Amino acid sequence: MDLSTRYMGLDLRHPVVASASPLSSSLDGIRRLEDGGAAAVVLFSLFEEQLHQEIASVEHLAAAGSESFAESLSYFPELEEYHVGPDRYLDLLRRAAEAVDIPVIASLNCVTGDGWADYARQLSETGARGLELNVYYLPADPAVSGQHVEQHYLDALAAVKAASSVPVALKVSPYFSAMAHMARQFAQAGADGLVLFNRFYQPDFDLEELSVTPNLQLSERAEIRLPLRWIAMLHGRIDVSLAATTGVAGPDEVIKYLLAGADAVMTTSALLRNGPAFCQTLVTGVTEWMERRGYDSVAEMKGALSQQRVADPTAFARANYIRMLESWTNPYTLSGV
Ligand SMILES: Cc1cc2nc3c(=O)[nH]c(=O)nc-3n(C[C@H](O)[C@H](O)[C@H](O)COP(=O)(O)O)c2cc1C
Repeated sequence: MDLSTRYMGLDLRHPVVASASPLSSSLDGIRRLEDGGAAAVVLFSLFEEQLHQEIASVEHLAAAGSESFAESLSYFPELEEYHVGPDRYLDLLRRAAEAVDIPVIASLNCVTGDGWADYARQLSETGARGLELNVYYLPADPAVSGQHVEQHYLDALAAVKAASSVPVALKVSPYFSAMAHMARQFAQAGADGLVLFNRFYQPDFDLEELSVTPNLQLSERAEIRLPLRWIAMLHGRIDVSLAATTGVAGPDEVIKYLLAGADAVMTTSALLRNGPAFCQTLVTGVTEWMERRGYDSVAEMKGALSQQRVADPTAFARANYIRMLESWTNPYTLSGV
């Protein structure tokens, strides 16, 4: 069985990659991810706010993850390990690159892209086999146009790409008015990979305190649908590697993402719930399914259900939406409905 895949120019043993999370915030954590079976590790992000000596909002993200899942406490790192400045980040990266055999991908999480070129260069010279650029940008200003947002992403990519000697992937949000066109622009601007999609964390309201509460929830499997559709629609149509992130709860989601056309499938929530060794559970599950279905390689199954390859390409488009609405039957027995 050949599980190998190529993602953003990196040859991976299989497609299951640990995405950026506190699990990679220490050398021990990175080793556990390798031992647990990850084919590559994306380091937790170096945040732009850290470069500017400000407090990053990731603080409550990490706290929420550990509180909600008691079983994760044993391997969930202390916050101070997660929230580091550039010097400690570079030091961890250097040690990790020496300690593990799997590729370590560094992650930059920025809004403006300013000042990133120098860090991109340093990271690529410090053992990172690739860089992941997460432009976590919420354009709330009514004066900022969609065109401005698009240019903002492209400028950040261009700056990092020009400075980096290793492949660069862009972790993007789905909130572009023309996602396919945008993906092609990213590819043309030199992105080696696209990570679909960044999950914007939505605040909630506390009705007793009348306050806004940070409310990080780990993903559920139903959340694969949005990235699944876009990967299926983009596969084979733009010249860039595709990685899926969001909603992997078990082997089925990995299989679906591969059938859609993903080159790599990333996971965080499942590892926070089940521990780093869950990577191997995912790989074993995928392998068993491939054996049952007669697939000899991941290459063979990649994109088998992409829009270009399915018998009914409208399954991904508007025509299917209308059919789906027509086919709905009410499972409730309310009279008169
Ligand atoms: C506690 C926590 C911390 C995270 N930290 C980062 C980060 O530093 N950088 C980043 O790009 N994504 C970060 N993510 C997002 C994950 O990499 C991933 O894209 C997201 O959780 C969706 O994947 P999942 O459904 O497998 O969890 C974090 C997620 C969680 C839950």
